[in-house]
Amino acid sequence: MTTYAIGRNMFDLDTPVLCLDAAKLERNIARMAAFFEGRPARLRPHSKTHKCPTIAWMQMRAGAIGITCAKLGEAEVRAQAGLRDLLIGNPSLGADKIARLINLAAYSEVMVAVDDAANAQELSDAANAKGIALRTIIEVDVGMGRCGTLPGEETLRLAGKMVALPGLRFEGIMGYEGHTVMAPDMDKRRAAAEAAMAQLVATHDLLVQQGIRCDIVSAGGTGTYHITGAYPGITEVEAGSYATMDAKYHSVGSDFELALTLLARVISVRGDRAIINAGMKAMTHEFGMPTVLHPEGWALAKLSEEHGILERQGGAPLQRGDVVELLPSHGCTTINLHDSYHVTRNDVVEAVWPIAARGCIR
Ligand SMILES: Cc1ncc(COP(=O)(O)O)c(C=O)c1O
Repeated sequence: MTTYAIGRNMFDLDTPVLCLDAAKLERNIARMAAFFEGRPARLRPHSKTHKCPTIAWMQMRAGAIGITCAKLGEAEVRAQAGLRDLLIGNPSLGADKIARLINLAAYSEVMVAVDDAANAQELSDAANAKGIALRTIIEVDVGMGRCGTLPGEETLRLAGKMVALPGLRFEGIMGYEGHTVMAPDMDKRRAAAEAAMAQLVATHDLLVQQGIRCDIVSAGGTGTYHITGAYPGITEVEAGSYATMDAKYHSVGSDFELALTLLARVISVRGDRAIINAGMKAMTHEFGMPTVLHPEGWALAKLSEEHGILERQGGAPLQRGDVVELLPSHGCTTINLHDSYHVTRNDVVEAVWPIAARGCIR
């Protein structure tokens, strides 16, 4: 970790370097927390975007009830940082993962998503052998077409099996409406998200009618927190990108500020092209090319492994050594490429925070 950077101006740092504006991050966390104040639904922010225990702690101090994690490995990192009430939003399968999960559950507060009866049985057997009751939640597919049981009867059948398993404690259901969160038209986004939540809440009601206790109904992302978080019957929201934000979410309309930038340097100039020292190993482009914030009048045309090709679009000529500030198009995957955030206030580095859960794909 390059803590020598503390106190330096961010534009003097060695590059490529991932920077996080502390004031914007704080305002994003406060804005989201304010939305949930006094509402029945609470916030369990997804940490798959920032991957950083310090940010998770900031979210907890702002009122979050726990932290959502994508993978078991992410939850292990959170637990090591003393974070509590961790929801692992993907199923954990196979002997290796189940052994890790059960050990994690024995020593910290963790809850895991399940969408299959055989997996539920394996988890129950392992938890039983360890003498614990593993907290579980059913993942329901509310239209995204990823993991999850179908809403209604299929979820009821699995829940019925799970409540009978001695090693499990059944907590409820989750259904991320990921197919709706970036719909550019807000009316269409609202209609699609509400249709998804109607299925999820109806599934909750069906379980309860059949005598199955279902305390958690979890859903929601940065693009739908205000819809899902206000939908009657939703008990918690899993939004995550809002803390750091990225250009893609910003382009579809969002109240949250762009806290994350990447600094690179020009290493070669040829006419109206400038080559920077950051390519695909420093930023991702599945959501489109990152935006050049500074200097104006230049755009990123191409990325190779270690290089980015900038094209002049009316800006002043660039020189070798000039700093270029870029806005990542997709925060989650770009952050995953870096070891740490250089956290800045008024452009001065205030802290260097490890991105401790980067690469935790198992
Ligand atoms: C299960 C789950 N919940 C919630 C989210 C919300 O994330 P975001 O805030 O990026 O929309 C995601 C994002 O991929 C997710 O996979």
